[in-house]
Amino acid sequence: MNILVLNGSPRPQGETANMVSAFKNAAEKAGHEVRVIEVCRLNIRGCLACEYCHGKGRGACAQKDDMRQIYDALPETDMLVLASPIYYHNISGQLKCVIDRFYAALYPSAPERLKKVAMFLASGDPEMDTGARFSYEGDFLGYLGLEDMGLFTNHDAQVLQRISAMAAAL
Ligand SMILES: Cc1cc2nc3c(=O)[nH]c(=O)nc-3n(C[C@H](O)[C@H](O)[C@H](O)COP(=O)(O)O)c2cc1C
Repeated sequence: MNILVLNGSPRPQGETANMVSAFKNAAEKAGHEVRVIEVCRLNIRGCLACEYCHGKGRGACAQKDDMRQIYDALPETDMLVLASPIYYHNISGQLKCVIDRFYAALYPSAPERLKKVAMFLASGDPEMDTGARFSYEGDFLGYLGLEDMGLFTNHDAQVLQRISAMAAAL
């Protein structure tokens, strides 16, 4: 399986990065291809709501920036992992820009191969992730109908083991 991890943390040694590397190690050991995109190192602007992608562009975004890397990867992706620190109850702004730009990639329909999703969240305090959970459940499980491989947080003492077990069982 081709797995695309979108890491929305700017901290290379942070909690989110730990979860991502536990996942990557276990998923690769299980024979999967894992590509991690560090979205904070890229130049990805917010959606302009110009509607070019839903009109003349027929799924192509009018903005020419590093989102191209993600647009190119999505059609080859079987599973998406959204990994982020919690900033004010939600994912980081950098990752939110990426998700808003999915507006183009999901038109006229979602990438066919994409079937599974998981989310990794890191926060200072527990139960601060309501916004991120709402989007995960509403947009990725509900609207896109992806199979839920789990939502994992750094407040679970066993989180790295649980992530590794999930990856090993994919
Ligand atoms: C801008 C900003 C906003 C934050 N907001 C929250 C918050 O609302 N609730 C919380 O529990 N932690 C908050 N934090 C703390 C981070 O979520 C926490 O340090 C997290 O572990 C960072 O993940 P990382 O190590 O992967 O970067 C915030 C941190 C920053 C920099």
